[in-house]
Amino acid sequence: MLVCGGAGYIGAHAAYALAQQGFEVSVLDNLSTGHREALRWGRWIDADLLQPQSLDAAFARPVDAVMHFCARSLVGESVIAPYDYYDNNVVGSLNLLRVMHRHGVGKLVFSSSAAVFGHPIGERIDEAHPKAPINPYGASKLMVERILADAAQAYGLRSVSLRYFNAAGAAAEAGIGESHDPETHLIPNVIRAGLGQGGALNVFGDDYGTTDGTCVRDYVHVLDLADAHIRALDWMDGNEGAHCFNLGNDAGFSVLQVIRAASQVMGRDIEYRVLPRRHGDPAVLVASSQAARVHLGWTPRYTGIERIIESAYRWHRDPGF
Ligand code: UFG
Repeated sequence: MLVCGGAGYIGAHAAYALAQQGFEVSVLDNLSTGHREALRWGRWIDADLLQPQSLDAAFARPVDAVMHFCARSLVGESVIAPYDYYDNNVVGSLNLLRVMHRHGVGKLVFSSSAAVFGHPIGERIDEAHPKAPINPYGASKLMVERILADAAQAYGLRSVSLRYFNAAGAAAEAGIGESHDPETHLIPNVIRAGLGQGGALNVFGDDYGTTDGTCVRDYVHVLDLADAHIRALDWMDGNEGAHCFNLGNDAGFSVLQVIRAASQVMGRDIEYRVLPRRHGDPAVLVASSQAARVHLGWTPRYTGIERIIESAYRWHRDPGF
């Protein structure tokens, strides 16, 4: 199994889960945002999707399927630097698809995102929801989904695009967790504030039309995401074509609810201050992941926000990197 981007947050957890299940793992990563310390499972191929000639090394040994986690993933940054996002996320994916094609590799699991939907309409977002991304990051993911549909037609490539809602949590027991620089995500920032690192948490807006005025998100544990990837591999054996599934817990928590839950888990108060809204944040994003449950047989194990936060907290207390 070739895991592209296996030194990053979600990719490293997938590499760990694959190794636990006895898969032979190779990780392709240029360490641009990933961590050398997360390269614990399988051999490492130091290659860059934007340098196509570097990619053949990953296919020197037989590859059954590819999991593709390489991407720039900061929504705000994508608005400021769209060329970088389209280059990395779209051109990089195309380069990977071409080399897979050349080596006769016919199965791909692709990291997509809830960002393909843009502003949500209605309560829960299922696969039929209109795709209208509102930033280059979401647009880049949707473009790759489209490329995969065309590749299924033209070349018979089998693929599953998994649209994550808010990935969170850690496999602290395996020494891996979420570590971005800069860190923009809520749960790591809440935990850092609780640990007294970096001052009070900034809460971006409390004037949304939600019960407490703060934004609501669907947090899904990174090991549950990894499990869905492994299920997608199995599923592709019996299913041709390009398919997309939403992955979330189908439950929303507001920023203030997350702060309260973290405060409980950590046994201390968490200081926060309310700032104006962050540009581009929709008020509510909650998945319907029924299709993944039905077709992939996926059942998330970390359904409570406290369990997700607790695993992240264990990592942050003693991060390996
Ligand atoms: N937030 C804060 N303070 C912080 C960080 C976040 O108040 O320090 C708020 C945000 O404003 C937002 C919520 O917490 O309302 C969640 O923010 P995150 O940055 O953790 O996550 P997002 O929902 O913005 O984005 C995540 C991924 C994206 C993906 C999107 C799709 O980071 O890559 O989910 O659902 F596109």
